Amino acid sequence: MIIAPSLLAADSSRYSDEAKRAERSGGEWLHLDVMDGHFVPNISFGPDLVKSLRPKSKLFFDVHLMCSRPEVLIESFAKNGADQITIHVELGEKVHDLIWQIRSLGIKAGLAVNPPTNLSHVEPYLNEIDLLLIMTVNPGFGGQPFIEECLPKIRQADDWRKSRGYGYRIEVDGGIVFKTAVECAKMGADTFVSGTGLFKAGNMAAAIKKMRRLIIASPRTLPIQKQ
Ligand code: DX5
Ligand code: ZN
Repeated sequence: MIIAPSLLAADSSRYSDEAKRAERSGGEWLHLDVMDGHFVPNISFGPDLVKSLRPKSKLFFDVHLMCSRPEVLIESFAKNGADQITIHVELGEKVHDLIWQIRSLGIKAGLAVNPPTNLSHVEPYLNEIDLLLIMTVNPGFGGQPFIEECLPKIRQADDWRKSRGYGYRIEVDGGIVFKTAVECAKMGADTFVSGTGLFKAGNMAAAIKKMRRLIIASPRTLPIQKQ
């Protein structure tokens, strides 16, 4: 199980200190949300931020590209220190090439699916990815409420993983706080992105510790569906 604080919720005038705080507090990955103002109605940061943070952090850099043309950014992020890059299945016919572009740079590849998108769209790629990111809010902004209707997708993704022998992680992202982390863990999620829930907690180390304890105490309970 991995907890990935999302830098989007950090103090943007002190990203370097905030990344160190996430590491000191016991986060394993640092989730970096890249928004292009086109795929989502917001802009965040680009490859230069990864370059400047890389020498200051040992955390695994989990880069989430919410971008219409990730093909022009992937190489820069990889060279600047991304450990994993996730692109969106909503990009359609270029998804396969994007996954292979990421893998060919020697880093891990993730595939994200937005709340309104049917999970069947990710099925053709399940044997090519290291991580399946199930969005639990519509991407673009931190601090939104968790969309409960996304929970069955986590269960389905875990069913596929167990019954077909895939090795991808199942990451959830958006509105993850103690209660929703537990709900996702019970469905089979193993990687938990949390921005507001951790960066805005008074004591981030205590919040991560508590989230981890609650998740460990909430193994998947539902039976696996026969395929
Ligand atoms: C949403 C981003 C998330 C965001 C989560 O567009 O992909 O990673 O940072 O933030 P919280 O945890 O505040 O919902
Ligand atoms: Zn994200």
